[in-house]
Amino acid sequence: MKKKLIAGNWKMNGGLAANDGLVRGLLAGLASAPSCDIAVAVPAPYLAQVQALTAGSPIALASQDVSAHASGAYTGESAAGMLKEFDVRYALVGHSERRQYHGESDAVVAEKARQALALGITPIVCVGETLQERESGHTEAVVKRQLAAVIHVNGHCISEIVVAYEPVWAIGTGRTASPEQAQQVHAVLRAQLAAASAHADRVRLLYGGSMNAANAAELLAQPDIDGGLVGGASLKPEDFLKIIAAAQ
Ligand code: PGA
Repeated sequence: MKKKLIAGNWKMNGGLAANDGLVRGLLAGLASAPSCDIAVAVPAPYLAQVQALTAGSPIALASQDVSAHASGAYTGESAAGMLKEFDVRYALVGHSERRQYHGESDAVVAEKARQALALGITPIVCVGETLQERESGHTEAVVKRQLAAVIHVNGHCISEIVVAYEPVWAIGTGRTASPEQAQQVHAVLRAQLAAASAHADRVRLLYGGSMNAANAAELLAQPDIDGGLVGGASLKPEDFLKIIAAAQ
């Protein structure tokens, strides 16, 4: 059975002192060999700090984004090759905040996934519908369109990516999708993957959107939920540790 993956997304939070306390708190509370995979997606300026803090530990490093380009005149961006130098193992791509505030299209998200894969970084591709899209009955069409864009990244097997279903209306709102609502969409994504690849079962499908210590176990018990992408609750060691424990 594939291991679950619990990934924290710190977003634009933290600082040298806070990061130090958070990572040390996590390491102190973790079993030496946890039975799920664990990652933290930290702001780019702190990659080196968190790389040093997590070296040799079960916590893998993730970036919150990656450039769609390999190098050159792209002010403000970080290339996959640069991230790789800091032992970045996963890169979030197409988070709804990137799609919404930075106008990232499905095509750009696919390019980002391609850049990450080329450097051996696992993209965590985020998909999810807005409240308006859900209420107008377009949830399936939206997530399928977003996933379709990354399904055929040339030369790579779909099992090399991780997909995170994050309904936009559940992010940072305290309004979680019910386990049934989440499972329903995960089943749609799994079927779409299965139609494209014999390895669909190997793809980890994470749920994200107000996952917390109280609701994690029920969400993670769903047949097609293989982990979580956790925002707010990943900033508190005790909460993040409870979510990790729920994924064992
Ligand atoms: P949240 O964020 O857990 O704070 O809702 C999840 C995410 O945006 O990845």
